[in-house]
Amino acid sequence: MVTTARRFAGPAGQEDMPYLLTPGPLTTSRTVKATMMADYGSRDVEFRNIVADIRMGLLALANCDNSYDCVIMQGSGTFAIEAALGSFCPPAENTTLVVANGAYGDRAAKILEKIGRPIVKIDKGDSAAPSADEVAAMLDEDPMISHVWVIHCETTSGIVNPIADMARAVKARGRTFMVDAMSSFGALPLDMIDGIDVMVSSSNKCIEGVPGFSYVLAKRDMLAASKGVSHSVVLDLHEQWKGLEANGQFRFTPPTHALAAFHQAMKEHAQEGGVAARGARYQRNAQVLIKGMRALGFSTLLNDNEAGPIIQTFLTPRDRNFDFEQFYEALRVRGFAIYPGKLTKRPSFRIGTIGKVNEKVMEGVLAAISEALAEMDVTDLAPLEG
Ligand SMILES: Cc1ncc(COP(=O)(O)O)c(C=O)c1O
Repeated sequence: MVTTARRFAGPAGQEDMPYLLTPGPLTTSRTVKATMMADYGSRDVEFRNIVADIRMGLLALANCDNSYDCVIMQGSGTFAIEAALGSFCPPAENTTLVVANGAYGDRAAKILEKIGRPIVKIDKGDSAAPSADEVAAMLDEDPMISHVWVIHCETTSGIVNPIADMARAVKARGRTFMVDAMSSFGALPLDMIDGIDVMVSSSNKCIEGVPGFSYVLAKRDMLAASKGVSHSVVLDLHEQWKGLEANGQFRFTPPTHALAAFHQAMKEHAQEGGVAARGARYQRNAQVLIKGMRALGFSTLLNDNEAGPIIQTFLTPRDRNFDFEQFYEALRVRGFAIYPGKLTKRPSFRIGTIGKVNEKVMEGVLAAISEALAEMDVTDLAPLEG
């Protein structure tokens, strides 16, 4: 039976729906949702202006000069990832190095394998931090590696990888550096001009839009050279780019409402104070949440110096009365949707600290967690061993 969430009187006004404390879809502002009350024609000038504005705005936000361009792709983040991997990674002779420390690195490796592109991997398991030195050593050892793919915030655990150091190491060795910044872009600084050739993110993350599309920012010369390389018609970045450049239109039906919402979300991102202010709000959310969860007795997976402000992983308590589904539902009816764990070895769950939420919402979820534990009669919060 589906029960309606009890309204939590938080700041964003989430109607009767729970706050989404997940890595996306996220809670968005009412003003972002309201832009979806209009039906834009995909060929109309108003809509094409929105698309052009978004493309320019994203390039500015990622600190790109005019050697870069932005290609928007219909579909969730993985669609842009597969489009970028299939359009830029070498089909033969050279190899792509995937630096993996969680499910999203593994997924990129799986996509490359599936489409038959040569790949090598640095595999750090579920959550260990990869270093720029490891990447440098791998590149020095293997001259066949031409491209490097890494995840900025590995949402599996919430860890933030040192992409600026890696960019220096990769560019010093003349290789192509590609970053999945899906869950971090807009909240953590990312300067493409300092050595990132390709970056991928999506509409429903830190810019706080709704789901529907993803985007690739890439060097124009790479986009030009990718003609005929893609394994796919739909995910062919070169063709998508050419279409957008020719007349500002998409090759196939665009998610018009999601693009209009994102346009508004970008304005609100700027009004809040851009990347620094958004990142600072998420950081405050994370601090309140982690402090409160530790006070209740929960343990975090990551040390404070590793955890980013995007999502926090908590270890499942060993108390026999703790049941994640029951816990989830007890929180949902109180107005908060949390997220299951994705680690392969340790039982865990996650709470997102991004979206149109603030410290008051974090205090709300902590109060709800306290009530849920009492309701389930959970008292022993020491972590269950994996
Ligand atoms: C780092 C990262 N990469 C890729 C993805 C996949 O994105 P999507 O689920 O939108 O396809 C996610 C989703 O949260 C992510 O956090």
